[in-house]
Amino acid sequence: MRSSSILTVVVLCAAFAGCTHEAPTREAQSQPAAAPTKAPPTLAGRPGKAAIASAHALATEAGFEVIAKGGNAFDAAIAVGSVLSVVEPQSSGIGGGGFFLLHRAADGRDVFLDARETAPAASRSELWADADGKLDRDKSINGPISSGIPGEPAAYDWLAKHYGKLPLAESLAPAIRIAREGFPVYSRFNRSIGMRRPVLERWPAGKALFLPGGEIPAEGSLWSNPDLASTLERIAEHGATGFYRGEFAGRLVDAVAAAGGIWTREDLAAYVVKEREPITLDYRGWRIVTAPPPSSGGIALAEMFNILSGYDLAQRSRVERVHLTIEAMRRAYRDRAEYLGDPDYVKMPVAELTSPLYAAGLRASIHPSKATSSDALPGYMPPTEGEHTTHYSIMDADGNLAAVTKTVNLTLGSAFVVEGTGFVLNNEMDDFALLPGQPNAFGLVGGEANAPKSGRRPLSSMTPSFVIGEDRVGVIGTPGGSRIITMVLEGILAYLDGDEPKDVVARPRYHHQYLPDVVSAEPRAFTRDETKALTDMGHVVNEGERTWGLMNMVGWNRRTNTVGAGSDPREESSRADVR
Ligand code: DON
Repeated sequence: MRSSSILTVVVLCAAFAGCTHEAPTREAQSQPAAAPTKAPPTLAGRPGKAAIASAHALATEAGFEVIAKGGNAFDAAIAVGSVLSVVEPQSSGIGGGGFFLLHRAADGRDVFLDARETAPAASRSELWADADGKLDRDKSINGPISSGIPGEPAAYDWLAKHYGKLPLAESLAPAIRIAREGFPVYSRFNRSIGMRRPVLERWPAGKALFLPGGEIPAEGSLWSNPDLASTLERIAEHGATGFYRGEFAGRLVDAVAAAGGIWTREDLAAYVVKEREPITLDYRGWRIVTAPPPSSGGIALAEMFNILSGYDLAQRSRVERVHLTIEAMRRAYRDRAEYLGDPDYVKMPVAELTSPLYAAGLRASIHPSKATSSDALPGYMPPTEGEHTTHYSIMDADGNLAAVTKTVNLTLGSAFVVEGTGFVLNNEMDDFALLPGQPNAFGLVGGEANAPKSGRRPLSSMTPSFVIGEDRVGVIGTPGGSRIITMVLEGILAYLDGDEPKDVVARPRYHHQYLPDVVSAEPRAFTRDETKALTDMGHVVNEGERTWGLMNMVGWNRRTNTVGAGSDPREESSRADVR
């Protein structure tokens, strides 16, 4: 986006009818900008214990296993991540990518490792268009034409070389063992296979792997993946080179081409992870360290926290708090799609979007007791969600932190497996605006800033984050498509209110994303009276039957010197522990 349009937005927001009928709230007037009043807290000290929360018990266990062998949080991040790639292939894997937010205790460095997939060099919008110029949904999400160049293998190599204490082979050992020996099939795993069955059946290797004997593996039966064990062994022995170059890369390229994809050996050889500066924001004495572009999460979080910093939420009723939070969500999501893309290719007004001054303009447009209609806000940007990504949080005894969100995008990614490799390729190309203005699988639209061009990384919602206060430190994140960002916002607000990690992850959630102009709520998110009060303010509240997210959080209370961990009770495979 161009900076000028932001200013236009601020002016429009402050001016449009319905926004400024009443004077802004007292707090908003007295605190127009969110400038911190004192130095932000830093991460000092030593928890003395490790904490890990992930979507699968075997992955959490693998993290503790490598820590017991002398590894640190970053070795554990490899172990947990690679085991998730084995036991939760519906969510993430070697054929996908992710974001790794790291804090290194020894020198206090925060770094964001971007292992997002990249667009193959031959990418151009027409490849995903049908004869009428409309987005061909089958091509955007099924088979290798929907796959970006994976980032996860390069991430593990990088983590081991630059941050870990153990050789890569040792951190990958639990994943290799579990892939070879197998694990008990659980309901989310075989449900995912059922969902993707028709597409899996199109190509023999994926069909043989996920539908052995033509059947969905039975819950409780042992499912193994020796091909994936071999692929991981290859990476353990040769590092990223074993995946991105040579004979293995050639096999991937040939199989992708035979099934209609556009990968080349050069695309694979050119893949690199990027170290990026995290987005850092201060909110009421807390410091939040979070995901920069190509994630949209950190910028949206900064906008929402900056808006909310003008109100003393603790002094407000629950309904007022929810109303103000929804209005902050509405405004941040309006900006999200229009402006953001791969920072290496797109010039973005990050400083403006995350500035307290910009938030003050947005805040001035919030009516204290009336919902703003999304139609009244300029810009556009629709719906989404999903449960096919994974997040895990790690803290080691020395205070190293890792917040990792990784994905193959939709359930089982593209559902395409190259014979003999044991992993699905992602369908992350659908996170690009493949055709300008035409919605992707999440209903998200975009334009040039997120166009599928050679080497670019598609815009993401994944938002791994750290929350740092005087006394308490939290590591947080979740899957959930576009709902990720509001879940992380609500999770952080709950932590700031004093919740323990296990309570943060359990809290009922609500969500607003500008369009559709609806507040989605999990069952029990609001009382009947709260729903009525919000409805009276003009909010359309949609209390669904279903829940969303799979949040995993760890935390450390420096005052009481206690370490806590919580994994989302919405999913029974998840596991959090402290040792
Ligand atoms: O990067 C993104 O924003 C999406 N590929 C994430 C997909 C997701 O979270 C799916 N559902 N949980």
